[in-house]
Amino acid sequence: MTDAKLIDGNLFSAKVRESVAARVAEMVEHHKITPGLAVVLVGEDPASQVYVRTKHKRTVEAGMNSFEHKLPADTPEHEVLLLIEALNKDPQVHGILVQLPLPKHIDTQRVIEAISPAKDVDGFHPVNAGRLAAGGDSLVPCTPLGSLLLLKDTLGKLGGLDAVVIGRSNIVGKPMAQLLIKESCTVTVAHSQTRDLPGVVRRADIVIAAVGKAEMVKGDWLKPGCTVIDVGINRIELPDGSRKLVGDVDFASAVKVAGAITPVPGGVGPMTIACLLRNTLVACARLHHLSLKGL
Ligand code: GUN
Repeated sequence: MTDAKLIDGNLFSAKVRESVAARVAEMVEHHKITPGLAVVLVGEDPASQVYVRTKHKRTVEAGMNSFEHKLPADTPEHEVLLLIEALNKDPQVHGILVQLPLPKHIDTQRVIEAISPAKDVDGFHPVNAGRLAAGGDSLVPCTPLGSLLLLKDTLGKLGGLDAVVIGRSNIVGKPMAQLLIKESCTVTVAHSQTRDLPGVVRRADIVIAAVGKAEMVKGDWLKPGCTVIDVGINRIELPDGSRKLVGDVDFASAVKVAGAITPVPGGVGPMTIACLLRNTLVACARLHHLSLKGL
């Protein structure tokens, strides 16, 4: 059998960012409104610093305003909440993202719930999670949304397909399952207590791996020809001491069985920021009662 088609997240995310940039340019020209994204980073977590820098760069490239708020690691929770309150009221800010993880002394859920649902471009607020589940205009978490866009680009219509989501986090697994239900897939959510995980995965036309365990999903767990979306980003150490980024799927064995697969890096990762920009544009349009047909 030939190897799986590689789903190129770098290429597709660039297309999404270009279409967002084109809509931003129209909004600036016709309505004199520039979408604005505020990113709040508390502390100096190195991975978070890299993400925030990339978000800033991509936001500016899309023609949007980027507002960065970098606070020291020991910032009291009430100061973070005050900043969010100010951003909720700021008419120049249409999207608010608080970079996670937050320092331990801050209650993450309280911070998420302080963000106005209309500006919650991460889609983590319970109002947005509820609307995603129950219908209505929600903002959808970026990583599952990016995964869905890749799936639709690869497979077209998803209706009737068997999908297995491995992982049940609020950030990826649960919203991913909701999105796939909306697309009329038959969805199974597997997790650490699932019995016979390989047997469950083997039934799937679509496998979403979002567990955070390096190379856990093996090629012989897959139905031949299935589509694999690998959300994992794990740093592993090789025998020679060098470090490497790998997904939750054992790529070398999976690529021999799947029909299409996302690589790590270069698969889902770049889609997350593209969808953050898309969500910021959507939030801005809704706040100003503008339509975004065809996006
Ligand atoms: N940290 C890692 N991924 C994410 C994300 O998608 N959103 C936020 N806010 N923080 C993160």
